[in-house]
Amino acid sequence: MPSALVLPPRLALAQRPTPLQFLPRATQRWGNGRRLWVKRDDLTGSLLSGNKVRKLEFIIAHALAEGYDTLITCGGVQSNHCRATAFAGAQAGLKVHLILRGERPAAGQGNYLLNQLAGATIDCYPPSRYTPELTSLLSSWQAHYAQRGRKALVIPTGGSDGLGVWGYIAACDELREDLSAAGIEAAHLVTATGSGGTQAGLTLGTALYDLPLTVWGVNVCDNEQYFLLKVARDVADWRARFPGQPEVEVTPRVIDGYVGDGYGIASRQVLQTITDLAALEGVLLDPVYTGKAFHGLLQELAAGRFEESSDVVFLHSGGVFGVFPYAEQFDFRTPLQAANSERS
Ligand SMILES: Cc1ncc(COP(=O)(O)O)c(C=O)c1O
Repeated sequence: MPSALVLPPRLALAQRPTPLQFLPRATQRWGNGRRLWVKRDDLTGSLLSGNKVRKLEFIIAHALAEGYDTLITCGGVQSNHCRATAFAGAQAGLKVHLILRGERPAAGQGNYLLNQLAGATIDCYPPSRYTPELTSLLSSWQAHYAQRGRKALVIPTGGSDGLGVWGYIAACDELREDLSAAGIEAAHLVTATGSGGTQAGLTLGTALYDLPLTVWGVNVCDNEQYFLLKVARDVADWRARFPGQPEVEVTPRVIDGYVGDGYGIASRQVLQTITDLAALEGVLLDPVYTGKAFHGLLQELAAGRFEESSDVVFLHSGGVFGVFPYAEQFDFRTPLQAANSERS
């Protein structure tokens, strides 16, 4: 660890370290000369799973230290971040209020159902209202709690800000050990990017820990320019909130071109990649984030993007509950699935 890097208080919520797993059959099938690995952050927990838990370890520690009794956060109806916050808040004894984008589902499903089970207060707003009014909705709910003598912390979308980035800065210490245990000298590290905080933390963390990793975010919404700016903004927020940390140069890198028809819309090819990887390696991706990003990674591998390095690591950032709302869109008669059934 660089001597001057000082981590803020952290609440132990995630199962750490997560494994760095080699994918032998995926390597053979798609590696194009590179070895494929997956950093299993889908295994940070069951309900508290995925990348969000690493951020929440720092965010909730801050909330407890500063005397907040309520967490307000926001996202899509099937947001993984909101579900992780609902459970982390319940574990810490904090009230959780979720501001969700979309119509209230008629029946609980996936993450929405889990939010209900965790006892979160939920308000749904149609996108026509949510998108332009999000900032004022969050502050008016915060004021609502203040009027009742409560102290509510507003956590931004995805927990991505100068505080949340600590989650993946700290994860870089773990990655350092992973690389050395696996004998990886240099690698590309690819993650899905949706609100930018995971990518910002990894980009910053690899610089702070001087890791031989080139970090790429595959955007699942917006575009390259948006994420270059968002990562820079989260890093600037981190510097402002935590002065005195080592000065390092941060170079965000985005692989654009895999959003497809929009956020949360998975193409037939993305869904097939999900079923293929599940059948080939027993690793399950989701249609909104990891499936799209891994599909992008495979296209880029085939096109020779990562040629200068022998290893490529995919950060599996979770999202398993996001699979269920897509149940009817999967086609199980893919060539790989067929080969598997013939095996039996
Ligand atoms: C499963 C999953 N992977 C990746 C991401 C993207 O992470 P970030 O919001 O930090 O960019 C998210 C959330 O947005 C997510 O839920």
